[in-house]
Amino acid sequence: MKSNKIRQTFIDFFESKGHVFVPSSPVVPQDDPTLLFANAGMNQFKPIFLGEQSPSNLRAVNSQKCIRVSGKHNDLEEVGVDTFHHTFFEMLGNWSFGDYYKEDAIKWAWELFTEVWNLDKNRLWVTVFEEDEESYLLWPKITNIDPNRVLKSGRKDNFWEMGETGPCGPCSEIHYFIGDDISKQNQDGVNNSDQYWELWNLVFIQNNRLANGQLEELPSKHVDTGAGFERLASVLQGKLNNYSTDLFQPIIKECELLTDSTYKENPVPFQVIADHLRMLSFSIADGAMPGNEGRGYVLRRIIRRAARFGRVLNFENAFLFKLVPSLGKIMGNIFPEIIERQAHIAKIIKFEEESFNETLTKGLIQFEKMISNTNGMIISGKAAFKLYDTYGFPLDLTQQMANEKKLSIDINGFEKAMKDQKKRARKSAKFDNYAQKIDWINVSNLKNSEFIGYDTAKCEATIVRYAFQDEKIYLVLDKTPFYAESGGQVSDLGVISNDRLKLNVLDVKIINDEFVHICEGEFSTEKLQKVDCEIDYKRRQRTKKNHTATHLMHKALKIVLGEHVQQAGSLVEPNYLRFDLTHFEKISDTEIEKIESIVNEEILTNTQLDVSIMPIDQAKHEGAYAMFGEKYGERVRVVTAGDFSKELCGGTHVDRTGDIGFFKIVEESSLASGVRRIVAFTGDKALERIQKMSSSLNNSKRLLNCNEDELEGRIEKLLKDKKELENQVKRNKSVGLLQDLDSYLSESKFIDDISVISKMTQAESIEELKDLGSALINKISIGAVVLGGMNEKPMLLICLTNNLVEDGYSAAVIAKDLGKQMGAGGGGRPNMATAGGKDENGLRLVVENGYDYLKNYFKG
Ligand code: ALA
Repeated sequence: MKSNKIRQTFIDFFESKGHVFVPSSPVVPQDDPTLLFANAGMNQFKPIFLGEQSPSNLRAVNSQKCIRVSGKHNDLEEVGVDTFHHTFFEMLGNWSFGDYYKEDAIKWAWELFTEVWNLDKNRLWVTVFEEDEESYLLWPKITNIDPNRVLKSGRKDNFWEMGETGPCGPCSEIHYFIGDDISKQNQDGVNNSDQYWELWNLVFIQNNRLANGQLEELPSKHVDTGAGFERLASVLQGKLNNYSTDLFQPIIKECELLTDSTYKENPVPFQVIADHLRMLSFSIADGAMPGNEGRGYVLRRIIRRAARFGRVLNFENAFLFKLVPSLGKIMGNIFPEIIERQAHIAKIIKFEEESFNETLTKGLIQFEKMISNTNGMIISGKAAFKLYDTYGFPLDLTQQMANEKKLSIDINGFEKAMKDQKKRARKSAKFDNYAQKIDWINVSNLKNSEFIGYDTAKCEATIVRYAFQDEKIYLVLDKTPFYAESGGQVSDLGVISNDRLKLNVLDVKIINDEFVHICEGEFSTEKLQKVDCEIDYKRRQRTKKNHTATHLMHKALKIVLGEHVQQAGSLVEPNYLRFDLTHFEKISDTEIEKIESIVNEEILTNTQLDVSIMPIDQAKHEGAYAMFGEKYGERVRVVTAGDFSKELCGGTHVDRTGDIGFFKIVEESSLASGVRRIVAFTGDKALERIQKMSSSLNNSKRLLNCNEDELEGRIEKLLKDKKELENQVKRNKSVGLLQDLDSYLSESKFIDDISVISKMTQAESIEELKDLGSALINKISIGAVVLGGMNEKPMLLICLTNNLVEDGYSAAVIAKDLGKQMGAGGGGRPNMATAGGKDENGLRLVVENGYDYLKNYFKG
């Protein structure tokens, strides 16, 4: 059975049991700060389990994109080396939100396995949590499983927890024996031997693990199941290796076409590459980017591991990116993002691969250094870890390279270093928990806040609840004109008041689906019902201009730079807008001008904006831009500016594009590799900016006494003149030095027939000093010249005529000696040498005593 069919059968089966299909959430979680990557199907349902959100249906079925790169079940070093661990995998699941519980979950799992997929029940084993007597009795009672095949097991294997905190509960796992001879089965093999594959985990969620480690009972009981799709496909396709299924084979075949090696000869590199390609493609499609921290760092390491294994297949250049389309062919039907963002994914992977090739070269040098520093035969674990961590060398490759040099690696030391690093990573993965506990005091039982601020700036509202928190007053109202920070747009500010209270709204946040107004000011708990709300409308107007301009710019960026441009971040403020985008080069001045012109043209067209709510499918069909990996509801708000721009957006916008007034980009910079940042102004802020630029232009014109058109030419000429003058000064100086030759010569003293000149000069560089020295020595038939000059440090030059050199004298010897006298060194050729010194006084002394020194030298 083809894998697509297997997935569909699972979904159809549960749909026939009243479940509603829920698409996979992005693999990069948007709203759970405790998670680096989605790691289970239940992640997106966590708020439902915790009672924070009510489900739209009580039964759900899904195939979730998951990534696990660490934790008890996934050691990255194992991935691709064995045949069943993956960094990226799909988890098929069915859920009950306070609806059915253990009985139906067990019954349906068994029915699907044994009646729909006809798995041999003589190969199936079931484990239950040792304290869960109910499930232990249920299995043989409601299914035809042999009671001897139901085993009790401890907390480690049969109490499932999503992480250090969060929903959890006892679970029941179904395992499958893959061995050839079914008579060789034994209950001790379950959870202990790789002949028994865990295929499906049925979790009975009934607790929440708190940060202090305690378990609390949840208000309702739920079912959360997860079946590893790749393993299932492997079993149903009769393969004993996940990589042999149709989920991986097309990638491996494509890879074989690019190299001389074959999968059959050398499977591991192909398996690593195929696995990592999936992880990278899905995480990049959902908005992750390689980087130096957290999630980005994980991506970077995975790319490096794949690229390094690529070397084993003789890939010298980037190759991984070429495999992205093959993944689209396998999985694009169920996860269309992998095709829609194919070009972007390939570009990011290629860029990283290319820069890794440079790192790799450095890593190889490091390896050579490392082995030359190795005492004895063992490379320290720390050194191997450095190669792994900084240069992306997987341990097994370092081992291979070490073997070639007849060395081994201190694996324990490596593991210790790795453990320490993991500890650090875990710490950094635990972001602050923003949804802090708030002690609310309820005032009315009205439903929570409805946002009415798209159409109005003020309203009368009723307080639903309040809290005193961090010396501020937190308010929830039944309705509000205040926009809460989201989608990059900052919150509104303003005032909430009645005759007893007057509060300044400092911030508005959405916490658990409620608009929470964070305020400061006079507050009284009396007469706490009706309040008047009014936002700072001027501020909002400016924010709106920036938000609509952001949409127009987003589109203009795609037109000018290309379709690969994706929004990587956005901030919409009253004073400016900031937009981060994926792009690999600096955006040139000409491109910036083009982008500005396109946006301003749209402003001048003065198009009426349209805001409508529609089903997400329709919005996508109409080509609306959606944020990378954002989780949207079934109905979405779409903001359209004529034929020009269409985006899914909950923000506030101007009525007509003309309201923006004017748009100006003021900054373009690099944010990270492959990500650029643009800052722009609109309306009066853009005008202010232009005025400032214009005033600086006017000042320059005044200073240079010219008009605007002449300005550039003037500055160029000034710079050219300056350069020329500098050269002139240099030339004059050396001419001046050389012109003084006669006066130097006239000061010659004699030691018999040897002329000696020893003098301080105005030379400021060693070249000037040498020019002067050569000119002088050429005019002397037999003699020595000692010249001193100062730049930052003392410089001394000694020249001898060739006949003295022939007689065995050496300027180098003199330089060395005199240098020593000045507290430094000296040396050079026998006819010309230089020396340095500590300070000017020392230099002057040596020059003054030059004659006496030389007399001693030549006579002594
Ligand atoms: N949430 C359960 C798991 O991940 C089903 O195994």
